[in-house]
Order: sequence, then C-alpha cells, then structure tokens
Amino acid sequence: MNKKQDSFSSRIGFVLAAAGSAIGLGNLWRFPYLAARYGGGIFLFIYIILAITFGFTLLISEIAIGRKTKLSCIKAYKTLSNKFAFLGPLAAIVPMLILPFYCMIGGWILKYLFEYLTLNASALCGDTYFSNFMSMGSEGILNSPIFWMILFVVITAAVVRMGVKQGIEKTSTYMMPVLFVLCFVIAIFSLSIPGAIDGLKYYLVPDFSKFSTSTVLGAMGQLFFSMSLAMGIMITYGSYVNDEDNLEKSVNQIEILDTFVAVMAGLMIIPAFVAFNNGDVSGISAGPGLMFGVLPKVFETMPMGGFVGFLFFLLVFVAALTSSVSILETCQSIVVDQAKVERKTATLGCTIFALVVGIILCLGYGPLADFKILSMQLPDFFDFLTNSVLMPIIALLTCILIGYVIKPESIICEITKNNEVFKRQKMFTVMIKYIAPICLILIILSEFLKYFNIITI
Ligand code: PHE
Repeated sequence: MNKKQDSFSSRIGFVLAAAGSAIGLGNLWRFPYLAARYGGGIFLFIYIILAITFGFTLLISEIAIGRKTKLSCIKAYKTLSNKFAFLGPLAAIVPMLILPFYCMIGGWILKYLFEYLTLNASALCGDTYFSNFMSMGSEGILNSPIFWMILFVVITAAVVRMGVKQGIEKTSTYMMPVLFVLCFVIAIFSLSIPGAIDGLKYYLVPDFSKFSTSTVLGAMGQLFFSMSLAMGIMITYGSYVNDEDNLEKSVNQIEILDTFVAVMAGLMIIPAFVAFNNGDVSGISAGPGLMFGVLPKVFETMPMGGFVGFLFFLLVFVAALTSSVSILETCQSIVVDQAKVERKTATLGCTIFALVVGIILCLGYGPLADFKILSMQLPDFFDFLTNSVLMPIIALLTCILIGYVIKPESIICEITKNNEVFKRQKMFTVMIKYIAPICLILIILSEFLKYFNIITI
C-alpha cells in the first residue's frame, strides 16, 4: 500500500476541511427551496432524522475506507475487493464532471458579489438580469459568465496548489468560522423583517399532513449531495486523516455543522421570502432561480439590503470555494495515484480540464443552448448524470460492498482501532446492510420514473 505523505495536521483541521467540502451550494441554495417545496417543517424534521442515520452511515463508511486504505477512490475500491474495482473509476468520474459545473455556478456568485461590492445591486433586481447574464446576452468581459468561471477556477486552483495543510486546511480553518458568523448575522437580519414570523412557523413547525413519499425522497437526495457523498471526496479526505483520530466524533461534528448551515440557510431565506410575498410560500419552490433571480429583490426591500446582500453572497462564495477546493483536490489525487505524476502537474492538468469543460458548459446556456442531450441543456445534463444517476448507483454498490463482501466488521474495526467505543455500531450495521440499500434503490427508481415523466416530484 503506498502511504500518502499528505495529511491534516489536526483532527479539528480535518473536521473543518470536510465540513468545508460538505457545506456549499447544496446547503445555501438547494436546501431552502427544497424545504419550502416539500412542506417546510416536516421536510426539516425528516431531513434531520435521515442525516443522523442514513447520512451518518454513508459518511463514516467513506471516511473509514479512505483512512484504512490511504488511497484515493480508484485504488481504494480495488484494494478492498477486486470484483468491485470498477467502482473506483466510476466514482472518479463524478468529481471530474462536477468540478466544471460547480465552478460555473461559483463564477455566477463572484459576479453577484462584484455587483454588490460596486454598489450596483439594483441592477440585479431586473426581471431578466439573471437569464440574460447566464445566456451571455450582454457585451463586455465583466458580463461574461466565462470570465467569472475562469476567475473562480483560478482561485480554487491556487488553494489546492498550496497543499493539504497550507492550502485546504488553513483556508477552511479561517473561512469556516467566518461562514458560521455570517449565517447568524444574516438570519437575524432576515428574521427582523415585519411579516417574517409566518414564514418562520411554516419552516419550523412540522405539519404531518404534508408528509409524502416525495418529502422523504427529496430529503434523501439532498442529503447525498450535501454531504459530498459517493464521489470519492470523503474517501480522499479520509486518506489524509491521522490514524489516532476518533472517526465517529469527527463524523458527528461534520454532520452537525453541515446540517446546522442548511437549517440556518432556511432561516435566512424562507421567512424573508414569505414576508416579501405577503405570506405566500408557493413562489419559493421556483427552485434554482431563487438565489440569483428572487433573493436580490428580497434584499432590495430590506433595511441595509445592499449590505446584507453583500454579506450573503460573500457567505455563498466562501461555502462554494471550500467545496470546489475539495472537488479539485479529489481530482488531482486521482491523477497522482493513476498517472504517478507530481501533485503540481496533476493540479495543473485538472485545472486546465476544468477550464476547458467549464467554457463549454457556460456556452451550453448561451450560444450552444440548442444543443441538447436527452432533451436537456448541457449543464443540466451534467447535473442529471452525476446527481441522479451516478451518485445513487455508486452509493448503492458501496453499501453492498461493505454490507456483504468486506462485511461491516472491517469498517467497524477501522473506526474502533484505537479502542474507541463506536456508539452507533448496531445502527450502522443495520443501515449499511438493509435500510440504506433500500433507500438508495428507491432514489434510483424515483429518478428513473421522474425522467420518463411517470411521476412528478
Ligand atoms: N456538498 C456540497 C454542497 O452542499 C456539494 C459538493 C458536491 C461538494 C460535490 C463537493 C462535491 O454544496
């Protein structure tokens, strides 16, 4: 086994870096509109239950695989079982596909941050501003999504280039606390708007009559993306964890931080939105356009809205950066393991790849908008392929690998190797063998039925 030289310098450094990966656009942009769409309080309730059972099981499995093998995902799966070696390359494809997609959205955030910084926030409130920007409708380099995507890739690459301790761990250690403070400040601003209380009730009080299968499936799909599961990322970060660290404790903390930010994002957005819409929650499920299309309008109506808007996009930028760093780090570690090149060269290669594919993706919403795969625009197809197809399949096969081939005991051994007590050991075994695979099969089936328009959720 080739032992990696890179490692985190402390347990807390690892927790913050892994939380930095987990906390991202999924928490701040996706979670609030899903919560609003799937019934508010009831969604939150189910999400939290799933996080401490399903999410915990998958997250601790991946981190334990990483620490046990000290390898990136391609070789890690092969080391565990020759029959399941194909899972490595499959999991490696996901971060490669997600990286350019994520950087494109990161670029949009930089653009919005820039507009707030240059006191041009009212421009963002125009009804067609976002669609026009995304589809490259305006002249000038500062209006080009490609320019902002390139800038975002370059910043990400600069952090990764500095290495695990100096780059990733340091950035996360400084940025994550800033992120937590920003969450509080913005939530307080949002909750102070007159009329916010209705939205707060909708968000926090579970209404069991709103419970449905789609609430559970929606929460499960979200959890997956939010914890950066099934794409080799947590295996890579796990491979940098020191052998003496308590894994269960670390995973608990990562999970709590990730869920905390998601819950806070709902607090920032849902009550403010409901107040803005005079008590009506329906429009918030508008979904992806929420952050770029609707939120600037909500901020515009708030006292000190320009400042809050700036803080909000700064928060999203920090969250997106620590996530994109984890994706690029994973890609480069795969290249280092496979091609036996130096870290420097691998990072450069992956950066160039992200830039080239990123440009194509940006064009996919612009001049190439008519180019469709399975009747989806190119960026949407990337999103569908990774989130809806590859990730659930990889997670399902990982559960089968752990549950029935290498057996849960091998993961439990890794978790308890310093004589730690694994408090949720029984639950872990039942989850990985029975419940998680069933949940994953349901996710895959529902995605399939959704695609063929047999169900709409
Ligand atoms: N977990 C991140 C989020 O919530 C998303 C992510 C996906 C991060 C893939 C890394 C890799 O936004």
